Order: sequence, then C-alpha cells, then structure tokens
Amino acid sequence: MSASTSTETVKTDVLIIGAGAAGLRASIELAEHGVDCLVLGKRAHGDAHTIWAAGGINASLGSLDPEDRWEIHAADTLNEGHFVNDATAVELLCQQAPERIRELDAWGMDFNRTDDGKINQRYFGAQSFRRTCFVGDRTGKALMETLVQKAMDLNVPYRQNLYITDLVVEDGRAVGAVGFDMDAGTPVAFDADAVIIAAGGHTSLFRRSSSRPDENTGDAQALAFRAGVPLRDMEFVQFHPTGKVRPEDEAGHLVTEAVRGEGGRLYNAEGERFMERYSPNQMELDARDVVARAIEQEVREGRGTEDDGVLLDISHRDDAYIHERLPRMVEEFAEHGVDITKEPMEVAPTAHYAMGGIEVSFETGQTEVDGLYAVGECTAGVHGANRLGGNSLVETIVFGQVTGQHIAETLHTRPSTPLPEARVREHIAVQDALAASSGPHTPEALMTRIRTLMWEHAGILRNEDSLLTGLQQLQQVQADAKDMDVQADRTTLRYENAQNVRCMLTTAETILRGALERTESRGAHARTDYPEKDPAWQQNIRCIPTGDGRMQVDIQPADTPSASVQRAIDEEHELDYHHLE
Ligand code: FUM
Repeated sequence: MSASTSTETVKTDVLIIGAGAAGLRASIELAEHGVDCLVLGKRAHGDAHTIWAAGGINASLGSLDPEDRWEIHAADTLNEGHFVNDATAVELLCQQAPERIRELDAWGMDFNRTDDGKINQRYFGAQSFRRTCFVGDRTGKALMETLVQKAMDLNVPYRQNLYITDLVVEDGRAVGAVGFDMDAGTPVAFDADAVIIAAGGHTSLFRRSSSRPDENTGDAQALAFRAGVPLRDMEFVQFHPTGKVRPEDEAGHLVTEAVRGEGGRLYNAEGERFMERYSPNQMELDARDVVARAIEQEVREGRGTEDDGVLLDISHRDDAYIHERLPRMVEEFAEHGVDITKEPMEVAPTAHYAMGGIEVSFETGQTEVDGLYAVGECTAGVHGANRLGGNSLVETIVFGQVTGQHIAETLHTRPSTPLPEARVREHIAVQDALAASSGPHTPEALMTRIRTLMWEHAGILRNEDSLLTGLQQLQQVQADAKDMDVQADRTTLRYENAQNVRCMLTTAETILRGALERTESRGAHARTDYPEKDPAWQQNIRCIPTGDGRMQVDIQPADTPSASVQRAIDEEHELDYHHLE
C-alpha cells in the first residue's frame, strides 16, 4: 500500500466521536445553544449499539408506584454497584432522569402508556419499584429514532462510516482527531476546540457478547488512553444473564431482561426453577451478576442444556400480553421456529456492558486532558461494580445533556489552537504503516484469539491463575500483531479489523490488569480465589498511561453518597418479586 498523499481537513468547534444516544444527545444540547458541532459514526447514521438496548430506560416517575423517588433510584444504583460508584454521578443521573424522559416524550418518543395515559413502567432486575419506562422491547431503537429526528430538526451535521484512529493532543490539550473515511478510503483530520468521546463500550472483546462483531471493540477507551487519560474500574464487565444460544450466528445477542421483568422464569435442563436456590426473594429479577453466575453454576455442574444454556419461559403469560410487551422477542424467535408464547427460549450469559472506562468528572464530562470530554458507556463511575438494567440508556441522555451544556457555556473561554500538522502527519503515518503491514497473522485471527482468551480467562468467574494466563496470552497476541497481515486499503473490512485489533489490545490489557489487582469479589467481578467482598476494597482502580505505551495501576477510595441518599439506602427498599407471580 502506498503512503497517503492527501488528507482532508475538516473544521468544527466541537467534534463528537460516536453517533449513538450519548453523542446525539450532546449534539442536540450544543445545537440548541447555537454551537457548531459535528457527529461522527463508524457506520450508517442511526445504526448504533444503542438500538440493542431493548427493555427500557429508568426514571423514578412513580407512574405505578408513587412511593418511588429519585433518592431510592440512587440507593438501588449504589447498592447494585456495590458502593464503588461515583456517588455524585449517581445522584445527578437519578435526579435528572425524570426531566430527560419527559423531554423525550415531548419530542415524540412513543412510550407505552398506562390506561390513564401515564408513561408505563415495568419491573427490571434489583430495582425496588417499577421504574423502567419502555417502548415494547425496542426502547433503544425508539430512543435512537427520536434523537436522530431531533438532531435532524436542528440541522446537526454528521458524517457516517468514519473511523477515528487517534486524538490530536498538543501541549496537554485536545485539539482534534485523525481518522479515515471508510467509503472513500482516505485519511481525514478534524480540527476542533473540544472533542467528546461517545464511542461506546468494549464487550466485543469477549467471545460471546451482545455486540455485533464490528462494534464495541474498545475504541473509545483505547483512544482516550493513548491520549493520556486514565481508565477506571476496567475489571467490572457485565455479563447479561440471557443471551441467545441459537442460531450460532446470533449467539450472545440479547434476550431482553424485559422477559424476566414481565414474569419470565428460568429453568435448568432438569426442569428445576433454580433461582429458588440462589435468590429466593428476588428470584429471576435479582441483579444481573447474581443471575448470570447462577446460570454459569448450573451449567458447570451439569444441569445445563446440551448447548450449555438454560431455559427462559414466559409462556404462562397471555399470548396477547406477550405480543404487546415483547413483540421483538416474539418475532426474533419465530424466525427460528420458536413460539415464545408456547415454549421456552434457550439462553446463556453474554458479555453485555462495560462498567469501567474513561475517567471523567460527571458534572462537566471533562477528562484529565483539557478539552477532551467523554459521555455514555465509554465512561466509568455511574454503575460501580454492576449496572442496573435500564440505567445505560438514561445515562446517555442525562450526561449527554450535562456535557453539551457545559461545553456550550465554556467554549468561548477556550483559546482556539490550530491543528498541528506534524502531529497529524505522525498519526497518518501510523495508519499508512498499518495498511502496508505484512506477516503471518490476520487481524481476524488475532481478534478471535483476544475474544477467546478474554472469555476463558477474564470471564464470569476469574482467579489469579486464569488472569495471569490471559495476560501472558495477550502479550503473545500483542507481539504477533506487529506482524499483522493487512496489505489492504482503508475501504476494506481487513483494514477496519486491523484498527480494531489495535484498540482491543490496549483495552483488554487494562481489563486483565484491573482484574488481577482487585483481590476480592464485588458485583460483576467474581474471583474464585477471593470469593468474598472485602470492605477494604471499597476503592477504585485506575489504569494510568505512562506515556511509553505501558500502564501503571493506582488505587483511590470510592466516593460516598449525600445524606438524603444515605437515608434512602438505610430504609432498605427491595424489589418484592412475588408481585409478579
Ligand atoms: O435486557 C435489556 O433489555 C437490556 C437493557 C439494558 O442493558 O439496560
């Protein structure tokens, strides 16, 4: 491959990397304040990972349970995050969620309604009240449609099929980014006064995941890390209890928690409703980490199905009810000959969400690098050690708004630094070198090795031996990636995958190192050699880039909640599962 000869340069005031709900909500806020911004997406506009969050979005509206209030939402979020959350972020999230939901309603999001016209709310795991607002079982898609339409009404510009490979940081300030146009195959440089990363999570690093193979490859975390920003709590990876088992090419895709929220029951292959043994009070609606580990245990002890799954059954509910509440599940399973109104679905845990990520100050979205912000799943702190279902979608719109507003109010105080040409040339040279790279290892084979080692050694259950083995294997993949067989131009999937490998290697290492450091079990981080939660570990683990490609681990005490939220915690609210029976 020959070196690039011409680079397109695009100027904008605020560059937003990522076109899912978080990036779009930030862009809407900026546009409403009259600030020029540009939204970049790795694939066709409107198609982002957000569409796969199905079951709902949380806010303490109290439509059905008037005793709910934001402090109890915060208490549930902290309880299930095992108190390593950023408490300030949690409180902002839960206080602002109702206003953001009403705003979406006003913008035309088609929420399911109660008979008296309120926004309906369903049960979701480990939440004390019915708090999850929904659009059937396609809430993420409806959210995206609403935000895309709103952004179009405000004429927010976007570019699709655009892959960002590096941020441009000069004198400690983010001044733009460099990437390539995946259609034209040409490098592109973006000159901006502020940059927002909103490029999602990293669960595609695991063999079975609810992501599509070419998304959530840890790009956001790797971009920030390479630019000098610490990553936090990377060991906390959420395994959703119910991913599909079949067909093979859909294995891991989400079977929404809404199935259990509407009363779905889990059975092992012996026909036993096994959650009675693991969580007799909250049953199938205990926190995701608890249910995922229970399924894993059933399978490991030989009570799983032939394909190492268990059975999820909603057929005791009326057909019409299932069709109304879970239309997408009905349709998706029917395509493969399973009528969920009559028979169970086969399910198994799947990597679903990154609780860890880019360290930010949530009141502003600001990272440690001046002018660089982050929003949404790519950040760390809101969810602590385990996320409540329905809190991811609401995080995108709350912090998208907060960050957009903060930038709009402060942008004029920032000096405008021109994009340094030398730095741009360096980044494009790296792109060129990757395009020309030759060797025995294809990017696809390297991706498979990363996914396998992460699943086997840093999966639902881990210990020191498995994590050290994982790290050793990853170091071998890192070495082999220096001899990657690319020899392809920037329009090819081969080249995109080579860039994905580059991100995956960095992000995977931070997960393994964080998991080795945390010698306890807490939330989604379950160590068989340290099976108990250790109060001394109520701390956050930070992976800090040392500037020479290596990383250093640092520990700091976790944040504490305000008095009003502490009161709600002390009241010990808990989901009463038996309402659902
Ligand atoms: O199961 C689900 O519908 C997922 C929702 C979420 O992760 O918030």
